[in-house]
Amino acid sequence: MELQMWKEILMPYDLAVEELKVKFSHIMKEYKQSGGYSPIEQVVGRVKSISSIIDKAQKKGIDIDKIQSQLEDIAGIRLICQFTDDIYTVVNLIRGRSDMRVKSEKDYITNMKPSGYRSYHIIVLYKVETVNGTKEIPVEIQIRTLGMNFWAIIEHSLQYKYQGNIPEHVRARLTAASNALITLDEEMSSIHDEIIDAQNFYLIKANIVSDILGNIQNLYKVANKREIIKIQDEFYELYEEGDISKLERFNRQLDIIAEGYRAQAT
Ligand code: GTP
Ligand code: MG
Repeated sequence: MELQMWKEILMPYDLAVEELKVKFSHIMKEYKQSGGYSPIEQVVGRVKSISSIIDKAQKKGIDIDKIQSQLEDIAGIRLICQFTDDIYTVVNLIRGRSDMRVKSEKDYITNMKPSGYRSYHIIVLYKVETVNGTKEIPVEIQIRTLGMNFWAIIEHSLQYKYQGNIPEHVRARLTAASNALITLDEEMSSIHDEIIDAQNFYLIKANIVSDILGNIQNLYKVANKREIIKIQDEFYELYEEGDISKLERFNRQLDIIAEGYRAQAT
């Protein structure tokens, strides 16, 4: 097949990956916007390279003309989560969406692969609009924790290095690493709530500080310089102290001051 032909075939896959990256990133944004914790930590996506497609088709005995219907991971999205529980939250989120249809699911977390590989895989069918009309594209979504991702990346590069024949002593260490990561994920889950509290605390503080700075900036337009300086000094002091409830109170005071200026202006 000509290179030009390949590029044409892969166009809608590229569109699917780009659209889904935007959509999943936006889910992260929505969670974080409301000051909350996002079950998705990172989104990555790729279209399989032409050489990998050809390799895989040959290995699996798939006719090149049939790859579009037989290879389901030409378009791939990877969603990285902080905690194992988050993976199932994300799975449910995907199942509930109206813009993608779940074709199949594989839970390699409950059923770890003999290699030690863990991840949740969902194949979804996703529609894209191209200049040649609507195309439904299969997309492989891999959902895993940071730990699972770390392991998979290392193992994959070792597969590459040893051309698929990882020596036994290296295998044994990968298995040990996989087990250690299971323990780590479990350990992290047990302190999950505490970590979320800490992150929420940080986000709340960041939101208040950004509110305060916005308020001070607005006051620059109306208040006199001496007052602004006084307000700023007070803010720095409170910021150093780090007490959220005091910062909140201070922010409310700024609201009142701003309200006073608005009343004067009208
Ligand atoms: P593939 O021929 O690998 O696509 O197998 P499959 O069609 O049965 O799908 P499977 O769900 O087993 O694997 C799909 C993808 O998951 C692979 O392309 C890899 O990205 C990843 N994967 C699966 N098993 C392993 C593994 O043992 N190690 C690593 N590093 N990745 C894996
Ligand atoms: Mg596959």
